[in-house]
Amino acid sequence: MNGEDHQLNQINFAFSKQSEIYDDYESSNNVLRWMRQQVYDVALKYLNPGNTILELNSGTGTDAVFFAKNGFNVFCTDLSDGMIHKIQIKIDKENLNDKIRVQKCSFTELYKLSGEKFDFVFSNFGGLNCIDDLRKVINHFSNLLKINGKVMLVIMPPVCLWELLQIFRGKFKFAFRRFNKSGTLSNVEGFTFKTYYYSKSDIKKFLGNNFQIVHQQGLAFFTPLPQMEKIQKKFPKLLKLLNKLDESLSRFFPFNLTGDHLILVAEYSPTKNQN
Ligand SMILES: C[S@@+](CC[C@H](N)C(=O)[O-])C[C@H]1O[C@@H](n2cnc3c(N)ncnc32)[C@H](O)[C@@H]1O
Repeated sequence: MNGEDHQLNQINFAFSKQSEIYDDYESSNNVLRWMRQQVYDVALKYLNPGNTILELNSGTGTDAVFFAKNGFNVFCTDLSDGMIHKIQIKIDKENLNDKIRVQKCSFTELYKLSGEKFDFVFSNFGGLNCIDDLRKVINHFSNLLKINGKVMLVIMPPVCLWELLQIFRGKFKFAFRRFNKSGTLSNVEGFTFKTYYYSKSDIKKFLGNNFQIVHQQGLAFFTPLPQMEKIQKKFPKLLKLLNKLDESLSRFFPFNLTGDHLILVAEYSPTKNQN
């Protein structure tokens, strides 16, 4: 098995195991719920009634259900068998078979989809940080999007204040892990695979001239990381204040380039000589 297949296998095992606890963990985590709401606020600004959405790395289908309940048609994809199973259970339970379709597919193999074009390609909460070269995914976008369609990526950038602050606790490796261009080993549910971090300028370069970035925003610059649960529990008022600070400043430089995640929306508007 080559290195890429090994990485994909590990991801499948890790997230299939995590799918069992994923939704319960999120519902008990104020930061994660706040982050997801920030993502929805942006997505709803750029979606139009009746739009079709292709969701990459859909996880347990939380976003797909949200979009479907807001009237959109969603095509979910993910690599993990466990995640795909969870989405299917949700679709049946919520009776959303006419709004959500699901297919197991790696975002590196989007050519396997039927050739359909979408209004919106969406990837949430760092699924794309699992790929060593983001171009392996981005190169599919022009075949998947309608003209003036949009892509919305929620991805972890290299600079994250809360991780850098860990130098004061002597955790140097963790503090600088996002800067390792050749990837950082992550451990999810006992399975290891590499994660890679992408800046706005990396993504802009990979998207090329046919895409214009129309929205950029940091997600959780002041707000502590979701896994810092002690802070959430001990200082709920402080947490609300930090959420408000993020809500006010996340669209302005330099807060629009950094945070736990970065939200980017780009419009596909191919130039005439390239089409
Ligand atoms: C942190 S979870 C995020 C899930 C979901 N987007 C959310 O917001 O809850 C990352 C997801 O990325 C998926 N993933 C990782 N690599 C992938 C790949 N090559 N193709 C498709 N999905 C992948 C994992 O299976 C997992 O479901």
